[in-house]
Amino acid sequence: MTLHIRTIAPDEIDAFIWAFRAVFGGAPDAQDLAQARLRLECDRSFVAVDGREEVVATAGAHSFAMSLPGGGQLGCAGITLVSVRADQRRRGLLTRFMERLLQQALERGDAIAALWASETPIYGRFGFGPAISTVEITLDRDHAALQHPGPVEEVRLVDHSLAREAFPAIRGQVSATRPGLLTRPAGFWDSLLDEETTSPSGSGPRLHALLPGRAYAIYRLRPDWTDGAPTGQVVVSELHATDAEAAAAMWRFVTDVDLASSTVAGRRAVDDPVLAMVVDRGRTRVAEDWPLQVRLLDLARVLSTRTYGTDGALVLEVHDRQLPEQAGRWHLEVSGGRGSCRRTDRPADVRLDIAALSTVVLGGARTTQLAAAGRVSEDGDDAAAHLDRLLATDVAPWQEFMF
Ligand SMILES: CC(C)(COP(=O)(O)OP(=O)(O)OC[C@H]1O[C@@H](n2cnc3c(N)ncnc32)[C@H](O)[C@@H]1OP(=O)(O)O)[C@@H](O)C(=O)NCCC(=O)NCCS
Repeated sequence: MTLHIRTIAPDEIDAFIWAFRAVFGGAPDAQDLAQARLRLECDRSFVAVDGREEVVATAGAHSFAMSLPGGGQLGCAGITLVSVRADQRRRGLLTRFMERLLQQALERGDAIAALWASETPIYGRFGFGPAISTVEITLDRDHAALQHPGPVEEVRLVDHSLAREAFPAIRGQVSATRPGLLTRPAGFWDSLLDEETTSPSGSGPRLHALLPGRAYAIYRLRPDWTDGAPTGQVVVSELHATDAEAAAAMWRFVTDVDLASSTVAGRRAVDDPVLAMVVDRGRTRVAEDWPLQVRLLDLARVLSTRTYGTDGALVLEVHDRQLPEQAGRWHLEVSGGRGSCRRTDRPADVRLDIAALSTVVLGGARTTQLAAAGRVSEDGDDAAAHLDRLLATDVAPWQEFMF
């Protein structure tokens, strides 16, 4: 069967989502479809269709920008909604989609691509690496006392329209100091904070807590009872704060909820300040959560845009099968915290493939670990460690919302 890959028209969004959901073993509801209509960019949404124009595979990208160390931002293609119908697997459709998506991203000026992978092994071959680790934090209410609780009495629950007005500016402020965070387009905010008519089964309504101008949280109470006692759980889907006091207030608010015995927050930064705020760190459970996979599309631009905490110079020899134009040797020179990255003929200090460089470029993973695993080779004992010293960041990279 000959399959044709093309972008979709606006009236094909529903068929796109139905095809995607079927592969993942479900069917979209009205809210899914409404959300997709707000989020999808048709000229970045691809389908593979058969001769009868039936959709057999889907893949797309969102137009984001990613914060880099130092606060600069570069265009980032958020790859998403990848699905191949069971009878068309392993015939190269994902490979064809990736070629189109990466090429289109480059043409649009994106320097980075990122995705949340359903299964980690899928995307390494396309140059993606797990650059941003996240954790799920569970705090028992009885052990969630904070060292310095902030002004929790100033936190208010607000409705969805006030949340829509107030939350983006707070998240924007956080993005300036946190590498990895992706800009959230208006359609994402609209669908995240829409007027909810039903709650997911087993959960209460979405609640929006605001400390004006400083912090917000989006959460639900999942009620439960054990032996007649309330053992509900607060499920925090997002919490941002611009300063330590505001963070303490918001964490205090979401960990001290009546009828709940615990609070869980997924996809948090590995260095989330709450881990240093709780008095009883031993009773705070931290589990590895999804990592964001990152791929450099324009390594020279990324290395020249991000800032550095220390000066130095190194030659990187990069292998890149999909984008051979960025393969080869690059001289990274950092002076006064600013980097420049240019082509060079000098001998390489560190040799690595693009997936490995993409893994470490935001400072969230170590080249030395990849070298110890045989995935990076270095000339001399110190080259991988030297690269790590250059790439180290003050705070860990973080990205919290799924796309
Ligand atoms: C994962 C999926 C998209 C792969 O699509 P596909 O069209 O079969 O992939 P391709 O034929 O282009 O395979 C490309 C390569 O990736 C490998 N690969 C594909 N899926 C893989 C997986 N789940 N784990 C490891 N390797 C995988 C293939 O073996 C192939 O390797 P090769 O180049 O050495 O031959 C498809 O199986 C699918 O839709 N799965 C269910 C939904 C899903 O997980 N989507 C991903 C969302 S992030």
